[in-house]
Amino acid sequence: MSSATTRDSFHSRIGFILAAAGSAIGLGNIWGFPTQAANNGGGAFLFVYLVVTVLLALPALYAEVYIGNQAQKNPVSALAQACGERFHNTGRNAGIIGLFGAVMMLSFYTIVAGWMLAHALSALFELLGFIDISVWLSTSSTLRNIVFTPIFIILSASIIHRGVHAGIERWSSRLMPVLLAMLVGLIVYILQQDGAQAGVALYLIPDFAQVTNPKLIISAMGQAFFSLSIGVGGMMVYGSYMKKGQDLGKLVLSIAALDTFIAFLAGLLIIPALFVAQHAGQEVFTDGHLIGEGQLIFSILPSLFASMGSGGLFVSFSFFALLSIAALTSTISSTEVPVAYLVEDKSMSRKRATWLISTVVLVASMTLVAFFDMLFGLVIQVLTTILQPLMSLFYFLVVGWIWQRGNKLTDMAILQKNFKLKLFGLYLRYICPILLIIVFINVAF
Ligand code: PHE
Repeated sequence: MSSATTRDSFHSRIGFILAAAGSAIGLGNIWGFPTQAANNGGGAFLFVYLVVTVLLALPALYAEVYIGNQAQKNPVSALAQACGERFHNTGRNAGIIGLFGAVMMLSFYTIVAGWMLAHALSALFELLGFIDISVWLSTSSTLRNIVFTPIFIILSASIIHRGVHAGIERWSSRLMPVLLAMLVGLIVYILQQDGAQAGVALYLIPDFAQVTNPKLIISAMGQAFFSLSIGVGGMMVYGSYMKKGQDLGKLVLSIAALDTFIAFLAGLLIIPALFVAQHAGQEVFTDGHLIGEGQLIFSILPSLFASMGSGGLFVSFSFFALLSIAALTSTISSTEVPVAYLVEDKSMSRKRATWLISTVVLVASMTLVAFFDMLFGLVIQVLTTILQPLMSLFYFLVVGWIWQRGNKLTDMAILQKNFKLKLFGLYLRYICPILLIIVFINVAF
């Protein structure tokens, strides 16, 4: 039987939306975005983030989903096929680079997801009266990483090898609205606390003197690509599981809007929370930078929950449990990339491929744990500010240029018929690559 007939697929558009939104919404929104915004001047970061999302990340997401959807193959084969005979190997190599990107993403993401799991359990143990265990769980340590990162990897693998569609999709469609409601509820609570106003002002009023800062622009761009899961093939593989001929524009737009909205809300929660903590005497910033970088929210959020009285522990448990699930739907999409490649191109069984990739991820993440100070931030930076934007540039070139060269993938007929799409095609072809290259040049000099 050919691989085409054995391929799994989404049964409906909604299946694709849920899976893609599940991939997009994750720690990037609730941990990454607020941390970056707080570190980069608040409003200025938010402003640039929104601009970059519309101008670059959204078209890149479209290009990625489009390539996968047209090819109906895993990202390595899809890119090879999209590049036509002449550039076949280039496409293939780019696909392999994306695959490495997915493993890089998993190597640090599973560590942070482990922190979320530990915090959820910490609240639970405190509720049950096991205070010592609870304190250990909520205190960052190498041992905690060594325990919880593998737990998360195993959790994620056990879902993937069973098949993603039935379980996790249904779960996330029910649980993500709960996460949204919780965010809104927590925002309402935090805004009533002393000191919150200064945080809201910092977040919502951009300091326009900062928006041209190249470091800020590159961080915002990296964050936008990361948040929309662009450039490692996760969205491409999901695009390939959807039937051809859908209105991808609308789908992509709704996913991006949802993802951006959740990031915005998370900022509106965490940045005022930082100021409330500061007001209460906790040291939060030195020279405008967050103390302890990405770890800080793990002391801010629990103290926020603790201020809520007896219900606070329950809120804490639910919040971190929901975040763990949001993280799970993101790791699933990344893991699916190498797994789909091994299953389709190397004829491996799904089960074997899943456990093989999980082992690779385990080794990678444990290396990060062992050399945490040196590697953790570096891997995040290389992935989000170099690899993901470069892959996006490649997608733009493939969709905008290489596809013109007479290969069989393009539904040129649709493109010709639709004027708006034609304009968008021109935008992808000329403006997007130029914008990206300008950003890169700016950073290099
Ligand atoms: N978009 C996810 C988040 O914001 C992370 C992710 C990146 C998922 C790349 C898949 C691929 O948490």
